[in-house]
Amino acid sequence: MFLPLHRWIWSDKQRSARKLFSFAETEADGGRDLVRAAELTDDPTLRRLYVRHALDEDRHAQLFRARGSALLRALPARAATPFQLNWVSPGERGLDDLHVHAETDASLLAFLHLSEKSAAGHFATYVDALKDDPATSAVFREILKDESFHMSYTLAQLTRVAPERRRLLLWKARLGRLWKTYLRLMSAIAGVMGSIILTLQYFVLLPPFAFIAKRAARHEPEGWTPVPPERSLKSQY
Ligand SMILES: [Fe+2]
Ligand SMILES: [Fe+2]
Repeated sequence: MFLPLHRWIWSDKQRSARKLFSFAETEADGGRDLVRAAELTDDPTLRRLYVRHALDEDRHAQLFRARGSALLRALPARAATPFQLNWVSPGERGLDDLHVHAETDASLLAFLHLSEKSAAGHFATYVDALKDDPATSAVFREILKDESFHMSYTLAQLTRVAPERRRLLLWKARLGRLWKTYLRLMSAIAGVMGSIILTLQYFVLLPPFAFIAKRAARHEPEGWTPVPPERSLKSQY
């Protein structure tokens, strides 16, 4: 349904390049968190999988960065920077707010599964939206294979480590993601409201003060004025 919107978002090369750089940061950051998760877990299978996952995310960061650089190099030097619109077409969202210390193996797997699933859905849409830019589309297609693997291994491991609590943990992770979406939306609305209120203050409150200051300035003598001896300073204290 949103394919035309995504097509429009990705049609601007400058925006695409900026988005790829910000996606690369999220991937690299997620990779670092997964290395930490591998250090923290007592489960050898999970440790191996987390390390492989971290290497994948690092590779994704390199792929996004390389494609972003190639897009920027092909642009004229003084192209304008449009909004990235990452709230409509995000990268691997979820990996950006991973708190591995606060999670158990099972809750981390549930969280990762949902994040990877949502990333796989978004990246599949971008593969279609980027039909006019086959090189960038190919990058997403390549990364999508790994995201699908991440999505399935996290669910399989969640089923292994917590078979009875699987559904509950997935629901908890879903609610957590919903809450974060709500917070993101509210902070975006607060940002817009803040800009509107400050603009109104500028045009409504400042003019009277400017008027009063100008009127007061008219009564002030111009230039340096001699100070009478009784008002001059005797000491700096
Ligand atoms: Fe990734
Ligand atoms: Fe991933």
